[in-house]
Amino acid sequence: METRVVKAYGDEEKDRELMLEAGRIIREGGLVAMPTETVYGLAGDALNKESSKKIYAAKGRPSDNPLIVHIADMEALSKIVSEIPEKARALAEKYWPGPLTMVLKKSDIVPYETTGGLETVAVRMPLNEIAREFIRASGGYIAAPSANKSGRPSCTTAEHVLKDLNGEIELIIDGGAVGIGLESTIVDMTGEIPCLLRPGYINPKMLEEVLGRIEIDPSIGGVMDAKAHPKAPGMKYKHYAPKGELYIVEGSSENVIRKINMLVREHEEKNEKVAVIASDETKDLYKCGIIKDVGSRMDEETIAHNLFAVLREMDELEVSTIYTEAFDTPRMGMAIMNRLIRAAGHKIVKCE
Ligand code: TXA
Ligand code: MG
Repeated sequence: METRVVKAYGDEEKDRELMLEAGRIIREGGLVAMPTETVYGLAGDALNKESSKKIYAAKGRPSDNPLIVHIADMEALSKIVSEIPEKARALAEKYWPGPLTMVLKKSDIVPYETTGGLETVAVRMPLNEIAREFIRASGGYIAAPSANKSGRPSCTTAEHVLKDLNGEIELIIDGGAVGIGLESTIVDMTGEIPCLLRPGYINPKMLEEVLGRIEIDPSIGGVMDAKAHPKAPGMKYKHYAPKGELYIVEGSSENVIRKINMLVREHEEKNEKVAVIASDETKDLYKCGIIKDVGSRMDEETIAHNLFAVLREMDELEVSTIYTEAFDTPRMGMAIMNRLIRAAGHKIVKCE
């Protein structure tokens, strides 16, 4: 199968045509990659079990790892869930459309192939206009995991998608680089107290403003416990890992820089290619290795936005080892560190 990449921004009429075509592919059971404000998604018809099976096959994803159903309006929600708790309604009111996914009890029309056999369904209404147009053109219910091959960093550009899925899907809608760059926040709304399953741009404080007290799945908390059993099935899999060995180096800025310089020198003495993931503030203080700057610590949204692209670049550079600073920033630190810790397979060097 040939994968076409078509730009979807600019010309209104052409975009409309493109959405109709993309919608037709979905209605006929095919797959399309779509831009969203978080990361690119690999879209199929959420209500067609054959489409969901195709998604798992294209991604190389285990079929017990459920898909998120993307909708374009609130009417669609009531068709795919069996109840909408008051708190879920309040959260939707505040953060939809946007980078928030809610886990709710599913209705009968959602096939188990989409929910990985669960009685619940994860639902999100993306903010990205192209995504919502495309969802409408497709019949209203799009199952879309992140459009990367299973285990790889999520895709933040159409080029990343092409690299992972060339020949596996019919069409990639190129909406340019995404805005946020990390996947949506996931909250389980089926229990008495809402539970955060995956941190994202919508952080615990923003959730608490609407929900009051929330629980945080122990597998993603501030200090992530490698042994905790995550409630979102996908969070248990190895993820985001670059081919080189990634280590997070934690401690005071001064100690981290000294430690990384020392470690990199040791590798270079053995003729090994090493990279460092640094920030604007620290990049000039590293003396050896390939230095990749993810942005300023004063601008954590930029760090989040660049993270996956930098992890992907590591594979192109063919480095054998990567050291990264930790980014425990105030708003998105939990989300950034959750991805980094999993990419590093929990390898953390403490230097205090
Ligand atoms: O930002 C996003 O959410 C992106 C874009 C494309 O919308 N999508 C995304 O999907 O990140 P994916 O499949 O890569 O991650 C979905 C996560 C997985 O960890 C999965 O286990 C969890 O959501 N999940 C899905 N349905 C669930 C359910 N019913 N209960 C608990 N976790 C669920
Ligand atoms: Mg994913």
